[in-house]
Amino acid sequence: MTDTALDPAAADIEYHYDVGNEFYALWLDETLTYSAARWDGIGPDEPEATALASAQRAKFAHHLDTVGASCPAGGFNLLDVGCGWGGLMDFGAASGRVTEAKGLTLSRAQFQYVEAHARPGVRVELTNWEDHRPERLYDGIISVGAFEHFAAPGTAREERIRSYRAYFERCHQWLRPGGRMSLQTIAYDSVTGPDGPVGSFVTKDVFPGGQLPRLSEIAEACDPYFSVTALHSCADDYARTLAVWSKRLSRAQQEARELVGPEVLRRYRLYLRVCETTFLRRAATVYRIGFQRRDEPLRTICG
Ligand SMILES: C[S@@+](CC[C@H](N)C(=O)[O-])C[C@H]1O[C@@H](n2cnc3c(N)ncnc32)[C@H](O)[C@@H]1O
Repeated sequence: MTDTALDPAAADIEYHYDVGNEFYALWLDETLTYSAARWDGIGPDEPEATALASAQRAKFAHHLDTVGASCPAGGFNLLDVGCGWGGLMDFGAASGRVTEAKGLTLSRAQFQYVEAHARPGVRVELTNWEDHRPERLYDGIISVGAFEHFAAPGTAREERIRSYRAYFERCHQWLRPGGRMSLQTIAYDSVTGPDGPVGSFVTKDVFPGGQLPRLSEIAEACDPYFSVTALHSCADDYARTLAVWSKRLSRAQQEARELVGPEVLRRYRLYLRVCETTFLRRAATVYRIGFQRRDEPLRTICG
């Protein structure tokens, strides 16, 4: 278990999620998913609440497809790095595509929620991925919306690549030979950061400790350990998700004000709108990236 007094990454996450599960439940969908949904095939006529949940489930299905979790006879043992309130693991277990799932989170509120609601086979650890010690190899690893916290804010490119490489190296050790991985992360697109349109308001006041990667950094960091098998850039998916969250929070503002007070509510409403603009302007995007474990990490072929 990670000690938030000792781990600055955990303290930053607690700052964000301490606002409380009830507040997030007011404007997220019923799966309590806090990342870009996947809107392909969701028509404009579908009612907003069910449309958001359907789009979140479509996103879960995409990531499970990417790691090859499709009701295999021998079972499927999944690791979800940064599991939030556990929606992806719950979907995987309910659909029979995943037989065992382990989720990692740094938020005590999320940990307690997942522990209380977990289906058989689903477990959660309150721990930084750096401290995770798996009991056995995983068949697949998914991480959605957590990579944005894996490098310290304000670090130089080389240092960020070192942090990301440490993550890929660890995932390589944790995956069985032939295993696959799926990553969803926000990344800088047309700005070089760190003070793009998102600016210090989001990185200091709402989500401290966050640091967006660039695609080239991810590519460089994974290179010794994984081959990239798929790459989707989905800025519009996040813009539409944020627009729905904004609408829902606006409608629930009376209740939200009572739960968190006017200042926190104002900050969140602004944050959702600023982020929507960021994606619409392509300053940032969302990548969904598929990876295949290189069973023999990169070798030099001598001429
Ligand atoms: C934006 S939420 C996304 C949650 C979930 N994947 C979803 O899509 O709804 C980020 C999650 O990453 C977790 N996280 C961030 N940094 C982490 C780290 N170093 N180790 C483990 N979990 C981490 C947070 O605790 C949180 O659960």
